[in-house]
Amino acid sequence: MRKIGLLIAVCGFLTGCARLDMQDQPKYKPQRPSEFFADGRSGRPEVEGTIARGNLDEDTALYTGKDEKGVDLEAFPIPVDKALLERGQQRYDIYCAPCHGRIGNGLGMIVRRGFKQPPSYHIDRLRTAPVGHFYEVITNGYGAMLNYAAQVPVRDRWAIIAYIRVLQLSQNANASELAADVRGKLPQPGQETAEQKAALKMQPLVPGDSDFHNFPANPATPAGVPGAFGAGANKPSNQPERK
Ligand code: HEC
Repeated sequence: MRKIGLLIAVCGFLTGCARLDMQDQPKYKPQRPSEFFADGRSGRPEVEGTIARGNLDEDTALYTGKDEKGVDLEAFPIPVDKALLERGQQRYDIYCAPCHGRIGNGLGMIVRRGFKQPPSYHIDRLRTAPVGHFYEVITNGYGAMLNYAAQVPVRDRWAIIAYIRVLQLSQNANASELAADVRGKLPQPGQETAEQKAALKMQPLVPGDSDFHNFPANPATPAGVPGAFGAGANKPSNQPERK
């Protein structure tokens, strides 16, 4: 019995020595200490000033919407052309219109169903607000509005802002500034289509309206939906509130 044990030990020793592959190279395993470096760390910190590929945010105006003094930009930091406006329209309709409405009057469908009503983009304060203010709101949120930094990349934020300027112009334009053929297509007062009339009268729903949902007192997420968070979700008491 003793002999067999010895034989196994010897075989193990021999095969162990015979392995001349990468397993035996000198290396550090993650998080192991090192005697080679003065600070004792085997994982080396990045050289100061290292920037990951694609993260060089050196254009302060573009990335913060502010000038060197930290003041909101008055002018766009990128050229505004038709392609940018079209992109902005598309992104606006996806990310902003649900609350701010397709024309920016603050009566998007979520608001009409009871969410806090944002100000119209057509009030004087927002018509004269610098573009940097809009960038700030999208990037960092504003009051009851969460930020859209994760959903909307930097250039798309500027595209959306350019489109908001289009909306602002469209709601305050003087008909006499339009080309004659376009002016001819405007409905005369009292001649609006039913759809146009409805748009003019659009208001947030009030509790008496049939499809008013009274968010969030009566939320769309029914209690007990597995994995659902937020108002109405049936959270186990030990589950922390999501921030
Ligand atoms: C879920 C609804 C919602 C969405 C989506 C939303 N907003 Fe808002 N927004 C609000 C509300 C509510 C306010 C008013 C916040 C307050 O005053 O507390 C607001 C305010 C604003 C303001 C006005 C800030 C001021 O100075 O008064 C701007 C500008 C704005 N939003 C831009 C945007 C843009 C651009 C998008 C799309 C990227 C967007 N919002 C998407 C709800 C929303």
